[in-house]
Amino acid sequence: MKKILAPSILSADFKTLGEQIIETEKGGAQYIHFDIMDGMFVPSISFGMPVLSSIRNLTGQTIDAHLMVTEPVRLMEEFVECGADILTIHYEACTDIKADIDCIHSLGVKAGLSIKPETPVEALEPYLEQADMFLVMCVVPGFGGQTFLPGSIEKIQKLRAMLRERGMEKDIEVDGGIHHSNVTKVLDAGANIIVAGSAIYKGDVRDNTERFMEILRNYD
Ligand code: DX5
Ligand code: ZN
Repeated sequence: MKKILAPSILSADFKTLGEQIIETEKGGAQYIHFDIMDGMFVPSISFGMPVLSSIRNLTGQTIDAHLMVTEPVRLMEEFVECGADILTIHYEACTDIKADIDCIHSLGVKAGLSIKPETPVEALEPYLEQADMFLVMCVVPGFGGQTFLPGSIEKIQKLRAMLRERGMEKDIEVDGGIHHSNVTKVLDAGANIIVAGSAIYKGDVRDNTERFMEILRNYD
């Protein structure tokens, strides 16, 4: 499967956000991971519509919006209007997941479904057909710079097996605590979309991106 790098701008320096995003595109990253937090589903608040609108046409990268918000259905239409190409919602945040995924599809974008570390991967089973992508959180959502939780590996492996058993080749995204040093482990487990925040945006953004892309391109 195609391996994709999704740098999370949560760890960017917002003084020069645009320039830094361009560096990730030049380095080969295909996605921009856009973390939206509401101060309820997660304790913190990040950024929202105006920032998304500002960056939407900056590069040709796919905008991958990760909605860490309660009842995301309230906000979906507006985030798509602002430029999101993928909307990922949380299993734990929705009253009616099937209706919410239908809503995302009706807006003409891809639907991702995410689980927090404490949620078993089997919770995704009823949605394997309907969703386009599955996001396994490898840290407790809410903040960048946390340590990768090792139990995530088994969840990724199980999810890849569940998809294979059904003959489905769908994207598995992983998010939280991923660095150059451990990315191969999540690829081995079956993930193919890699979110990285601090590992990209702390230090030389272009060089960090290129080093990730080299690992992804040489994998297999
Ligand atoms: C955390 C966010 C992540 C975060 C990852 O809740 O969903 O996308 O930016 O940051 P790192 O890669 O630093 O763990
Ligand atoms: Zn995220």
